[in-house]
Amino acid sequence: MVLVSGSGTNLQALIDACEDPAYGARIVAVGADRDGIEGLHRAERHGIPTFVERVADHPDRAAWDVALAEDVAAHDPDLVVLAGFMKLTGPAFLARFGGRTVNTHPALSPAFPGMHGPRDALAYGVKITGATLFVVDEGVDTGPIVAQVAVPVEDDDDVETLHERIKTRERAMLVEWVGRMAREPFEIDGRRIRFHPKDPR
Ligand code: GAR
Repeated sequence: MVLVSGSGTNLQALIDACEDPAYGARIVAVGADRDGIEGLHRAERHGIPTFVERVADHPDRAAWDVALAEDVAAHDPDLVVLAGFMKLTGPAFLARFGGRTVNTHPALSPAFPGMHGPRDALAYGVKITGATLFVVDEGVDTGPIVAQVAVPVEDDDDVETLHERIKTRERAMLVEWVGRMAREPFEIDGRRIRFHPKDPR
């Protein structure tokens, strides 16, 4: 299950990876918090079921969070991937999917959490930034880290060029580690993810 809010290039990388049976994962559905986005169109073009759950259709965030959890549960996913999903999941969602929901963030955590990782890294003047895949917890981009990739900041970067360079590495990271999480049992031990590769025999 993948949740998106925008263009969905990370989703597309996962869709492409899932076409190889050896990848070991299948996207059971794609959900969004808004209509008409390219991420949903990508799913539709590949025949993947979609749903939209808008905050504006609920009295408050808590009610939206319950509804989102219901939508996701209806597809019975093993793993939930937030791929450019620009909303925080809340307590009702985490009660059902905590420990098996991952998010990808375009910065090297714990630096530059929130909605504007590339902009904030550029403004700070760091020379290296990157992307972080983490297990979602109650905080903003604070959960246990699954993987990170480093990306150089060039002198003439603007937010768009930097974000695009990050996204190229981010997509490869996402595909590699979501595949691993789908194929291999894992446990979360404090702030660490420990994988237990299946015995090949
Ligand atoms: C990605 O870079 C993702 O890390 C970021 O949005 C982009 C979505 O791109 N997410 C966040 O900033 C969440 N805080 P995409 O729609 O092309 O996959």
